[in-house]
Amino acid sequence: MDIQQRYKSVLQVLKNYNQQHLLNFWDVLDNSERVKLLNQIEDIEFSSLAQKIDRYVINPVGTILPKSFSAAPAYPAKPKTDEQKKKYHEAIELGKELISAGKVAAFVVAGGQGTRLGFDGPKGDFPISPIENKTLFRIFAETVKAAGKKYGFEPVWYVMTSPLNHGQTLGIFARNDYYGLKKEDIFFFPQGTEVNYSADGKILLAEKDELAVSPDGHGGSLKALYKSGAVADMKDRGIEYISYFQVDNPLINIFDPLFVGLHAMDGAQMSSKSVFKSGPLEKVGNFCLADGKVTVIEYSDLAEELAQKKKPDGSLVFSMGSIAIHMINRSFVDALNNKGFALPYHKAVKKIPCIDIQSGRKIEPDSPNGIKLETFVFDALPLAEKSIILETIRSEEFAPVKNAEGADSPAVTKQMMIALAVSWLHSAGIEVPKKADSSPDCIIEIAPSFAICREDVTAVRDKILPIKPGDMIYLE
Ligand code: UD1
Repeated sequence: MDIQQRYKSVLQVLKNYNQQHLLNFWDVLDNSERVKLLNQIEDIEFSSLAQKIDRYVINPVGTILPKSFSAAPAYPAKPKTDEQKKKYHEAIELGKELISAGKVAAFVVAGGQGTRLGFDGPKGDFPISPIENKTLFRIFAETVKAAGKKYGFEPVWYVMTSPLNHGQTLGIFARNDYYGLKKEDIFFFPQGTEVNYSADGKILLAEKDELAVSPDGHGGSLKALYKSGAVADMKDRGIEYISYFQVDNPLINIFDPLFVGLHAMDGAQMSSKSVFKSGPLEKVGNFCLADGKVTVIEYSDLAEELAQKKKPDGSLVFSMGSIAIHMINRSFVDALNNKGFALPYHKAVKKIPCIDIQSGRKIEPDSPNGIKLETFVFDALPLAEKSIILETIRSEEFAPVKNAEGADSPAVTKQMMIALAVSWLHSAGIEVPKKADSSPDCIIEIAPSFAICREDVTAVRDKILPIKPGDMIYLE
């Protein structure tokens, strides 16, 4: 079809959906700009557009909560009964076997825009370790490599970017020689995008020849894993379990035998780790059980009265917060995509630079002017036949860097990294000097090559020299 024919047919479709303004600047575009714009418009899924705009943009009904739900049960961080102790022991053994057999792969979602942190560039390149200033990507890569050495397998790492940061991310890895991993064992792929809308449901133009788009949310990872060929690559390599984590959490225990083992023993398809919420209104998703299915209800959707509800012993009813750590079966992702699935959209009202469709002038908004739609990965949990939750201890696995200042800021994350290193040293029987307020009087950083878990430190405790007040010690 020549370009004029394509133009005519696209214009007709756009008219049917009341979006013909997207071609307002056709006359001032050169040929390559016209092709670029047509390609983007032709990629829109028009079959679901009208319903999407009505349901999520113009008349949003908000999240539809299950009619009735209760708190979801979770495996405790430490086993309590003899039966549990036996099960945890067996799960750890099974988890180690599966990891050693190369059945578990690392998967980070790194397509977010990280605007809250105010960092220019992919968030994985943010320096965070307390002494060496290692970036998040470096910490993950070194952890993946160390796990391969510890368990004797060739680790594979899947990295989801977005079209907005894909090239930059590839450049960062190449400049850092893939942080010591084999290039062919890191599989990069971009997630999909969603077009952005004005409040009245018109698709926004970022430029006269370009639609305004944004990443489709971490829920997009379940489609992108499939579309990109990552799932097929996993099949070829014999990988069965995907260890899913977010780019913002340097404490992530990527290859956790207990989590892998419990998930596999219980025949789950998608499982999660949780922490006890720091308070009733902490801004994390809440694990609930609806119609027998594990479901995450975002903090913003849980009525305050329910969030505050207490059990007779004074503890919170909805106490388990989601920390966005999941174990997902490759076969589950495969099956979802084969039969076709859709996660619900969540609407975010944001400042979106765009073109005024009458004048063609660029608008740089001072206040939110447009709508982005995203899907969330945890909305796939109820689609799993079986899903387990393993409670974990916040100080051991969760210190996300999200904001420039205050809670979840780099300063807090660094303190938590030091505190965890100190706690591992304590467990190994090593004295760590303390200040009067009992905070550590030293800065410690443990390289993944030295230890990726508490037990690793105990195994090499004789190599650690005495620590003096004020010391800065990097163990590698
Ligand atoms: C998220 C969870 C929240 C959880 C918290 C734990 C949501 C809506 N909420 O909050 O329940 O308690 O993490 O830290 O997710 N990402 C992509 N592509 C996207 C969007 C995000 O890859 O299109 C990635 C980001 O790079 C990041 C992660 O997803 O790794 C989380 O994104 P972010 O928007 O920062 O989530 P939070 O609002 O912090």
